[in-house]
Amino acid sequence: MNPRLEALHAYPFERLAALKAQERAAPAASPAHIAMSIGEPQHPPPAFLLEVLRGELERLGSYPGTAGTPELRAACAHWLTRRFALRAGSVDPESMVLPVNGTREGLFAFIQAAIDQRRSTLVAMPDPGYQIYEGATLLAGAEPLLLDTRAANGYLPDLEAVPDESWRRCQVLILCSPGNPTGAVLPLALLERALELADRHDFIVAADECYADIYLDEDAPPVGLLQASEALGRERFARCIVFESLSKRSSVPGLRSGFVAGDPAVMARLLKYRTYHGSAMPLPTQLASCAAWNDDGHAATNRRLYQEKFDRVLPLLSPVLKVARPAGAFYLWPEVDGDDERFTRELYVRENVTVLPGSYLGRGGAAGNPGAGHVRVSLTAPLAQCLEGAGRLLEFLRVYRP
Ligand SMILES: Cc1ncc(COP(=O)(O)O)c(C=O)c1O
Repeated sequence: MNPRLEALHAYPFERLAALKAQERAAPAASPAHIAMSIGEPQHPPPAFLLEVLRGELERLGSYPGTAGTPELRAACAHWLTRRFALRAGSVDPESMVLPVNGTREGLFAFIQAAIDQRRSTLVAMPDPGYQIYEGATLLAGAEPLLLDTRAANGYLPDLEAVPDESWRRCQVLILCSPGNPTGAVLPLALLERALELADRHDFIVAADECYADIYLDEDAPPVGLLQASEALGRERFARCIVFESLSKRSSVPGLRSGFVAGDPAVMARLLKYRTYHGSAMPLPTQLASCAAWNDDGHAATNRRLYQEKFDRVLPLLSPVLKVARPAGAFYLWPEVDGDDERFTRELYVRENVTVLPGSYLGRGGAAGNPGAGHVRVSLTAPLAQCLEGAGRLLEFLRVYRP
């Protein structure tokens, strides 16, 4: 078997399951368990999407094309143009958009296609971050270059801290905005700086924007990488690639539907890779996805549900926990002063609430694991459960000593 498989770290949820399985971590049977650890949306999926899916099941009788239907690619291009206020016609659906079966799969495939294994290559990525970036990098024979995101720098990666020598070896810079787990949104100036560095040192900027439609200020939707490219007057999104998803936007994580868009030169080679990779999106999924990308109303409704949860949960927690309102995504990233694993285990034992230790999401270099001392609290459960979970956290904090 591929020896690089040995380099992969255990997935954070495997580690969490092991932590909870420790004998002394068995909680009392009641009250009922509340999972605030997983990032799986639980709002009901839009009825119209399910209707299209059901109505098109006969289409399973045909092989789908890897490039996706022209209608789906057009719907994705139109959404990008609306969402990021791009110039009309600047996203060419033919050459700049490809469907993927979720951004997880898309990110993984992209890294495999992008890395030149003849070179000693770096892939820069936020730390803590989504573990697929690291796994895809290691399996592609490249080395992760971890960009710390800590409270001190507003949970933003410090691009200026990376020496030129590392940028020269870098083939891909992965950014995530809004970020998981921190919820930080990258400002336009940082995206523009990333593109200047990419031009100077010849690398691709890959922006994971799977939380693009989950943000807390209706008047300030997070900016995107393609927007930054246009703001700089760059042509045809050179060196830019973005990853978008319906999982969070439309609360359909099981549909496995997203898309990749950007630089047509990169996209042409990615299409070639994916033709062999064999990951075409089933036609009923394509048709349902097309309907979802064409509708913004359900995404706004979904967003309001998250905003309400933050509005209700934060006033409970902020007097007793170092926690800020994130700009986007659906996580709280409180500081828990000390051992986040112990905090997680004791919270589980006492209150039957599961959160995710921040150290499981971070790696860290010389300066230590930047996820340590935090936990990730997901507000994906229904409002009543989130409130109940927050209440139990409060109870726990009354007795917990770091
Ligand atoms: C930062 C980030 N990127 C990508 C994904 C994958 O999403 P999907 O494959 O459902 O599009 C997730 C899922 O939790 C995520 O948190």
